Amino acid sequence: MPLELGILNRRRFFAGIAGVGASWLGQRALSAAEAIKAPSGTWALVSDTHIPSKLGERHRGACMAENVERVVSEILSRDAGTGGVIVGGDCARLYGHADDYRNFAGLIEPLVHGRREVHLLMGNHDNRNVFSRTCATAFPDHEGPSGRRTAFLPSEHLNWFLLDSLEEGSPVAGRLGRDQLDWLAAALDRHPDKPAVVMAHHHLKIRDEKGRVFQPMSALRDSSELHEVMKSRRQVKAYLYGHTHRWEIGRTREGIHLVNLPSSAYVFDSSQPVGWVEATAREDGLELEFRSLHSLHPSHRERHRLKWR
Ligand SMILES: [Fe+2]
Repeated sequence: MPLELGILNRRRFFAGIAGVGASWLGQRALSAAEAIKAPSGTWALVSDTHIPSKLGERHRGACMAENVERVVSEILSRDAGTGGVIVGGDCARLYGHADDYRNFAGLIEPLVHGRREVHLLMGNHDNRNVFSRTCATAFPDHEGPSGRRTAFLPSEHLNWFLLDSLEEGSPVAGRLGRDQLDWLAAALDRHPDKPAVVMAHHHLKIRDEKGRVFQPMSALRDSSELHEVMKSRRQVKAYLYGHTHRWEIGRTREGIHLVNLPSSAYVFDSSQPVGWVEATAREDGLELEFRSLHSLHPSHRERHRLKWR
């Protein structure tokens, strides 16, 4: 990331958070237990942080704020996320309160200090209007079609297309809407020559290559429309999402990789881990390393190499 961009990001960040004092700037310095250097230009993928308005709040045995502190600390200690940090939605605890976002901004502020460009998606537990009033201008992504937050992020080996699947009034399921699908199709058509990775908060309601459909009631309502846009464009190689609080990798029948990013906060299935994912783009694919917050979890440091179709 160019130096100037980092400085701009920091200035914008501090100017863009409404009603925040300096109290949250004093973050605890956590020990870097596994300070192994990551390859340069990696992306740090974090999801479902569920930061509450009371920092000490716990849910399902986890302190969400403490977990994010640990993730942020590890990203910095590994020198990861220098390509960018993407938070896959459900940044807020349940309803997207202003204090949730102020706390969220405070917790990720060391990343901005560390010259990381931070992008975030909206999930079903976010509130787009409250986020916009509280700290949207602190983040680089601009308003997309129909007031949604979309982003096109070009990088050396791939282009990211970030989508906003938060549907107001829907507590769990999501929807992109025709305008956003058209925006994606046009944006993909303008960039046919580089591998594309599409990302939104919700999982797809489609059969994967094993014939499975995961929890269709809580999925993206216009999954088949998104699937149509993606499968007909060969440059689309992967779809990344959060929402289910699971770490899982699958594929569509057309060979589009489906990457379910884990939650950094808590899980619904006790066999699942909490953590984050470090992604390194290559010319012919994407390398993923899962970083569990519990180093004894069997999937900690699990690596996958996604080869492009
Ligand atoms: Fe969530």
